[in-house]
Amino acid sequence: MIRTLAFVNPMLEVSGLKRGFGSGSNRLEVLKGVDLSLQRGELVALMGPSGCGKSTLLNIIGGLLKADEGRIKIGSRNPLVYGTKAPNQVIDVRRKGVGWIFQDFHLLDHITSLENVILSLELAGTSSQDAERRAINAMERVELGDRMHFMPNELSGGQQQRVAVARAIAGSRPLLLADEPTGNLDVKAGESIISLFKELCADPDDPISVLMVTHDPILASKADRMLLMRDGKTAASDIRSAWGESTGDPI
Ligand SMILES: Nc1ncnc2c1ncn2[C@@H]1O[C@H](COP(=O)(O)OP(=O)(O)OP(=O)(O)O)[C@@H](O)[C@H]1O
Ligand SMILES: [Mg+2]
Repeated sequence: MIRTLAFVNPMLEVSGLKRGFGSGSNRLEVLKGVDLSLQRGELVALMGPSGCGKSTLLNIIGGLLKADEGRIKIGSRNPLVYGTKAPNQVIDVRRKGVGWIFQDFHLLDHITSLENVILSLELAGTSSQDAERRAINAMERVELGDRMHFMPNELSGGQQQRVAVARAIAGSRPLLLADEPTGNLDVKAGESIISLFKELCADPDDPISVLMVTHDPILASKADRMLLMRDGKTAASDIRSAWGESTGDPI
């Protein structure tokens, strides 16, 4: 089925992104000209075989790694434009542009879940008073209002990942990058994280966009769209091609 989206106001636009590693005969071209865009409020799943460059792509979009060529634009009003800039030149991308979710949560063990969210806001330059207000709001949005003062190890894996989601969205960052966010969760907890992403994307007051790497085709099929990375580029995909079957025309 052809799905038509009005590509009028993308939240994220990536064009002609290239990145390789090494030199001479050891040179490995990983990204060979990636083009993709995400609308505001869209949840997009990125799939592809191990080592194809999914994390490399996220790291460049997240301002942790520079591309060799290409351009990235986040937002439409006062957009952040980068791609080949070094990480120390794209501090705003990390502070205001993107929030991260990783497979293994990356929470600090010795402070409460709320303090984890507050700390990340303070590190991004928010005043302590403002940080506490925003953090409480974010914890309520991920339905952990009653667990704010628990230590991370007093929470289930799914709840810990919700704290990580709260941390990622607390700074009103418009784009969430999730690298295998459900990799350490059981099926039910994984599904509930995807449902949470969908709720946050559909929030009429403050919608975010999510680019999520997953190896799980069932979870990927719950996204608005799927992209498959192959031969250094991304292409639209559907559930059958994610399982490795031929599908004919891409959607
Ligand atoms: N800093 C680096 N130096 C050299 N090679 C690298 C570096 N980072 C990534 N690579 C190589 O780039 C390729 C893509 O790696 P990447 O981590 O992006 O893959 P991936 O699609 O995320 O894989 P997985 O599904 O296993 O997480 C791999 O061959 C990897 O070895
Ligand atoms: Mg990876």
